[in-house]
Amino acid sequence: MEQALKTLKNWIDSSNNIVFFGGAGVSTESGIPDFRSVDGLYHQKYKFPPETILSNTFFRRNPEEFYIFYRDKLIAPNARPNAAHLKLAQWEQEGKLKAVITQNIDGLHQMAGSRKVLELHGSVHRCYCERCRKIYLESFVNEGTGVPRCSCGGIVRPDVVLYEEGLDNHIMSESMSLIRDAEILIIGGTSLNVYPAAGLINYYRGNKLVLINLSETPADSQADLVIHGKIGEVFSQL
Ligand code: APR
Repeated sequence: MEQALKTLKNWIDSSNNIVFFGGAGVSTESGIPDFRSVDGLYHQKYKFPPETILSNTFFRRNPEEFYIFYRDKLIAPNARPNAAHLKLAQWEQEGKLKAVITQNIDGLHQMAGSRKVLELHGSVHRCYCERCRKIYLESFVNEGTGVPRCSCGGIVRPDVVLYEEGLDNHIMSESMSLIRDAEILIIGGTSLNVYPAAGLINYYRGNKLVLINLSETPADSQADLVIHGKIGEVFSQL
């Protein structure tokens, strides 16, 4: 086992206060493409740039187009947790990991058994009417066609944070305090491109900042341990 893995294993074996902060790279080994890798969603050709489609303005002006893209690209009903999700759930069960803070909306951490999951960008598994706030089963949106309408006439939307929309304040403040108090912060599978999510890592005050990512990130230089590799493969060696 190379030195970095050995160090990471020692740190994890002796800690009961680990926090994980992750992104789309945690789910690529489950078959869900990420956004900014060369084969990621944002490099795929569409009538409009995907970042534009996933904005509140576009959602309002072109709901039909939004739902076509959303059903085609953002939901992954057959995806299953990979080794990364399962290892994090195991560490939580062993009392080592306090929480998963994720930018992902796929629900794979919960499917793997994680209980404390803070979903900064929401989840495709929750839907609601944006006029009367009535809750709907995800199948009402994900399996339908066209623009899903509530009995009150409002649009039923997934509970995901679109560009131009704010993040949940409670989730943000709980994430800040978990990261602030963490002994080890493991950042995995994220390009750290999108704020305010990416800014959360600056609340970490310890000396065991771990970065596990396929490509370089802006936080590499401030990390105490960097492993460039597939997070599922890395975790399965711990
Ligand atoms: N193991 C480790 N890292 C991986 C793996 C893997 N198996 N697969 C991909 N990666 C890395 C990529 O190299 C990339 O740096 O994960 C990172 C994913 O970055 P992005 O595609 O930018 O995804 P993310 O950081 O989650 O994006 C944040 O942007 O569009 C918004 O709301 C969207 O939540 C998303 C946010």
